[in-house]
Amino acid sequence: GSSWEYIKTEVNGKVGIIQLHRPKALNALCDGLINEVNTAAQGFDKNDDISAIILTGSEKAFAAGADIKEMATREFIDVYNSTMFANWGDITKVKKPVIAAVNGFALGGGCELAMMCDMIIAGDKAKFGQPEIKLGTIPGVGGTQRLIRAIGKSKAMHLVLTGDMIDAHQAERDGLVAKVVPADKLMEEALAVANKIAAYSRPITRMAKEAVNASYEMSLQEGLKYEGRLFYASFATADQKEGMDAFVNKRAPTFTHK
Ligand code: CAA
Repeated sequence: GSSWEYIKTEVNGKVGIIQLHRPKALNALCDGLINEVNTAAQGFDKNDDISAIILTGSEKAFAAGADIKEMATREFIDVYNSTMFANWGDITKVKKPVIAAVNGFALGGGCELAMMCDMIIAGDKAKFGQPEIKLGTIPGVGGTQRLIRAIGKSKAMHLVLTGDMIDAHQAERDGLVAKVVPADKLMEEALAVANKIAAYSRPITRMAKEAVNASYEMSLQEGLKYEGRLFYASFATADQKEGMDAFVNKRAPTFTHK
């Protein structure tokens, strides 16, 4: 769609790509930008020709955070009454796998938005951080919550309390990032991963994503039960029959997303 103001969208085979495109502000995440990301992501989620989604930025910045200029003069009652940032989490409601492909800065809300995706693939020049402390505020869309789950308390505290950045390799060692590739190979790699996922059964990738995400919310016993229910449910799909029959008969499966 060319009707976007802050993003660009593209379809590459079965992969929907959303590129944050607000170059003058290092993709700072103003309200309009987040609304467009949500609209585009929901559109791809509903589109039967799309099996996976990539969210990316530019070489300089995935996103340098929430828009500080937009927020600077807001009062408590404004941000409270409007439940500022509440719709940012909408990206986590997308059922298809969402890959964050991060080059450059992923700071504050940019790091938080990347963490809302299902995995982060980073270019080797990427930098991650939660610098809100330097602005006299704290992370507001998951930086104090998702980061702990990704890298543990001590490392998360370090980022949140110092405002320091970590580079892509550190982020990979810490478990924030799934894979680091040369910056100019980022989209190629993200597309390779997305296409690999897209070749599988869509309802099954949805179940897999749902089961992994359930672990955020549940105890081990509840989570195992949840996983078990979805595992059993996979046997109600034609694609499980196809996948296992193809293995047994030494042929490639053809998934029909049923
Ligand atoms: N909001 C609004 N504008 C931003 C921005 C942001 N988060 N980040 C960068 N910009 C703007 C700059 O103001 C500048 O605009 P002008 O040319 O009009 O002055 C333009 O983008 C380019 O930025 P710089 O000149 O600063 O570029 P740089 O290469 O010197 O520095 C940077 C890059 C280190 C990322 C620096 O821009 C920076 O520190 N940005 C802010 C990072 C930050 O604090 N993010 C957290 C925001 S708060 C938040 O996200 C809350 C939350 O939890 C949701």
